Amino acid sequence: MRTKGGPRRERSTPWVELVHAADRATLDAVADLLVAAASRGEALGLSPTITREQYDHHLERLMASAQRRDAALAVARTPGGAVVGTAQWTRSAYPTRRVLGELDHVVVSPSARGTGAGRALIEAVVTDARAAGIEVLMLEARGNNHGALALYERNGFRSVGNLPNVVAIGSARHDIVLMARKLTRPPDTDLLGHLPAGAGASLPRGVSQGPDWQRTERLLLCLPTTDVADAYFAIHGDPATNVHNPAGTMVDPAMAIPILESWQRHWCEAGYGYWVVRAPEDGRVLGFGGVRPPLPDEDFLNLYYRFRPAAWGKGYATELGRAALALAAKSSPGAPVVALIRPRNEPSIRVVQRLGMRFEGEVERQLGVYLKYEIVPEP
Ligand SMILES: CC(C)(COP(=O)(O)OP(=O)(O)OC[C@H]1O[C@@H](n2cnc3c(N)ncnc32)[C@H](O)[C@@H]1OP(=O)(O)O)[C@@H](O)C(=O)NCCC(=O)NCCS
Repeated sequence: MRTKGGPRRERSTPWVELVHAADRATLDAVADLLVAAASRGEALGLSPTITREQYDHHLERLMASAQRRDAALAVARTPGGAVVGTAQWTRSAYPTRRVLGELDHVVVSPSARGTGAGRALIEAVVTDARAAGIEVLMLEARGNNHGALALYERNGFRSVGNLPNVVAIGSARHDIVLMARKLTRPPDTDLLGHLPAGAGASLPRGVSQGPDWQRTERLLLCLPTTDVADAYFAIHGDPATNVHNPAGTMVDPAMAIPILESWQRHWCEAGYGYWVVRAPEDGRVLGFGGVRPPLPDEDFLNLYYRFRPAAWGKGYATELGRAALALAAKSSPGAPVVALIRPRNEPSIRVVQRLGMRFEGEVERQLGVYLKYEIVPEP
């Protein structure tokens, strides 16, 4: 593959090509470039005494990985063909981190610096890594290498951490700055982050709650994030979950993000609200629900729940409802919690009855008649 590696600022801007299987001359030129940069003491994580033979071994292994699409070498050339820059990406060796790649060994020969080669190399690596299924590209830069840090910032990398004083050059110690750039994720990805869900999850002894999540017996209740917009639409846009909803099925997927943002704002302002309900086993979104005032100036809280059809019939809504009533009692003591249910919605009526909510009669709303159930939850 041969790509023009970014905008040419001037005539001498190098071209960048991605190499998955390189000819000997190219590999020799890359090795020469790296060994020379290391011997100048540049911040590449290599010994200044690294030999050509040692770097040749590295390139052999890199090319073997490149054949499997687990790595690639980018090479910047002058219009005349001379190699003046290089960079590489490699896939994490951990089988569970196949989506993590590392950008490394970025170097431009001193005579070609400032001509856009660094940027073109990084963009070529990013494009190739993305095509190979890399979702996050990370790198480690030496804390004193502010030119390189500026280059990476400029190319969409953001600092995600710092290892203080771990690079040892003689008696000097320098930081390592960890940087990362998000690439593309498949649409059905569940971004669980730090949530205690999925393989390998555990809880500290005696703990069932974190700053943005809470465990019940079988559910993980999480503060809303806009990452779950697809799941929100999948559940609210499913006619099966809206049989009793006079407003009908959600039709516009773009509405999911503003709704979730309004839920987030309510949590920020009031300290309670509607949760995203996940299965602790795999983190999959099962539904949504909780308590909050239906309108800002209402003096009662609305109990709300909606689950995927696959999660029906297991008592999850009742389990969520108990947690919601407990939260209401703590966060808004004395406020009545109300559920307005359509007359033929038997499963939902059974849920509120199990929660001990009293039938208070029928109420007329804009979209029809509802059965009103109410409780003032005890703390
Ligand atoms: C870091 C290095 C690869 C940059 O290569 P380069 O070809 O000069 O970079 P570019 O010309 O593409 O620069 C692209 C952008 O990066 C930023 N940048 C690069 N070097 C910079 C510097 N010294 N100071 C501030 N910004 C810098 C600028 O934003 C620049 O864009 P601009 O000139 O339009 O403002 C090169 O200096 C090098 O080989 N250094 C030694 C090896 C090294 O430190 N590698 C990084 C290891 S982590």
